[in-house]
Amino acid sequence: MTKTPLQFRLNGAEKAVFTEGGQNLLDVLRREVGDFAPKYGCGQGACGVCTVLVDGEPRLSCLTLAETVQGQAVETTSGLADGPELHVLQTAFMEHFAAQCGFCTPGMLMAAKALLDTNPTPSRDDVVEAISGNICRCTGYEPIIDAILDAAHNRRRSA
Ligand code: FES
Ligand code: FES
Repeated sequence: MTKTPLQFRLNGAEKAVFTEGGQNLLDVLRREVGDFAPKYGCGQGACGVCTVLVDGEPRLSCLTLAETVQGQAVETTSGLADGPELHVLQTAFMEHFAAQCGFCTPGMLMAAKALLDTNPTPSRDDVVEAISGNICRCTGYEPIIDAILDAAHNRRRSA
């Protein structure tokens, strides 16, 4: 099968890999680059566990053709913390017990980051809308929503 070169930035680091025709971004991240933060769930765009940011926009990486991120910036939860310093969303998720099994957490965090990066003062409805494509089977969503609102508040306070 023909292999196509692909270059993109992953959490600020340049990556150069070869992709096969039709390979999706999730597959490239996990198999070619070794970033296992985005999870494989349904593989059909229904669960949100594979959510990453591409040039700041949330994308379901299982439905994103890898070749479409040529030259773009991809973010995953692997790049959220700044060394030992957790991202404000990660801290809030811990404080609100917003992760139980944790399988949905990487996708939730990236969907939440996309929201807070564009809307520093989200309403509860804004948060619900932002994570509407992300399924959680454990928490009942309330701790996650509270955590995201708290993170937004804490980020404004420290700005
Ligand atoms: S694995 Fe991508 S939406 Fe479920
Ligand atoms: S914490 Fe288990 S699916 Fe969300």
